[in-house]
Amino acid sequence: MTSASKAAVAELLSEARQRTLELIEPLDDEQLNRVYSPLLSPLAWDLGHIANFEELWLVQTIADREPMHGDLGRFYDAIENPRKTRGELPILRDADLRAYMADVRERTLEVLDSVEIGPEAEDPLLRDGFVYEMLLAHEFQHNETMLQLLQMVDGYEPLRPVGTEALAPGDPETIALAGGTYEIGAPDQGFAYDNERRRHPVELAAFEIDRTPVTNAAYIAFMEATGAEPPLYWEPDGEGGWVTAAMGRRAPIDPARPVIHVSWHQANAFASWAGKRLPSEQEWEAASPHLRMVGQAWEWTSSDFLAYPGFEAFPYPEYSEVFFGPEYKVLRGSSWATHSRVVRPSFRNWDLPQRRQIFSGIRCARDA
Ligand code: AVJ
Ligand code: FE
Repeated sequence: MTSASKAAVAELLSEARQRTLELIEPLDDEQLNRVYSPLLSPLAWDLGHIANFEELWLVQTIADREPMHGDLGRFYDAIENPRKTRGELPILRDADLRAYMADVRERTLEVLDSVEIGPEAEDPLLRDGFVYEMLLAHEFQHNETMLQLLQMVDGYEPLRPVGTEALAPGDPETIALAGGTYEIGAPDQGFAYDNERRRHPVELAAFEIDRTPVTNAAYIAFMEATGAEPPLYWEPDGEGGWVTAAMGRRAPIDPARPVIHVSWHQANAFASWAGKRLPSEQEWEAASPHLRMVGQAWEWTSSDFLAYPGFEAFPYPEYSEVFFGPEYKVLRGSSWATHSRVVRPSFRNWDLPQRRQIFSGIRCARDA
């Protein structure tokens, strides 16, 4: 958004909203309000939260306007309201929810008309359209969270099918990186989250990393050899094999596609069994120009989610800072459910190591 054309911003905002509404179009209000899992919000919460986040940043913060529904925003605060409590909250539902999303968007476009979002803008929130980039990324990231939930909705029929790429069969090709200094993190220019900055040098010992992620076939071999648990949504097919049952639909498992819906513990155990290890997130990023970024599944790394040297929370500590610590593991890459605007080599995703509802897979590395 360096050329910061307001028309382009408006167009992108509308593309994101279309994607959001398309996801829920096959569902009725009861399905939007239903709690399918304590690990995930009811879809109505995600929708209200997307709109409330937009109102908070693009209307209240940058234009100093009052919120439309008083202190309703506190129910959409992700930190104050853990996912398992969100079904009980007095959030907006049904027609009120849809009206709120549309009304906020109308105000957002009014405000967009009145602000300066070029490189000269005084306010760092507005400079180069930062806050608009943040909003887009936020909505697209919640689209992915919504897709995680939609895996649990029996009979859900996506309006648009999502293609996933098969990999060449056989052992993964390995690439070698020399030991030395690598620059890690996002440069100062351009949109990135606070946790990707500052860009800084790291010393890496020589290592090897697979060019492709672990396939279903390789994961099945691991399960057969060790008795390891299957990924989430896998069920026995009754003949000694496996099928997936996401969205309540039993479907064959393609042996050549990357394995998905595994926990960090499963990923780590797979890597050890294969005589390898998970890459650190620095190794992953250093190797990213050479890797085949299939984008089917996020890839667990061995790294805890920690601040980079010189980290400063911007624009709010609840995006990253409150999650820093050894309890969260970093995932890198992207999944089939990730919008391309969210994908970049420095992007850091994170989750608890036992989680499998995310679209998570495995890539292996080893010391050279
Ligand atoms: C980066 C996926 C871990 O879902 O908690 C959405 C993204 N942050 N709204 C999350 C996010 C605020 C975040 N993850
Ligand atoms: Fe959010």
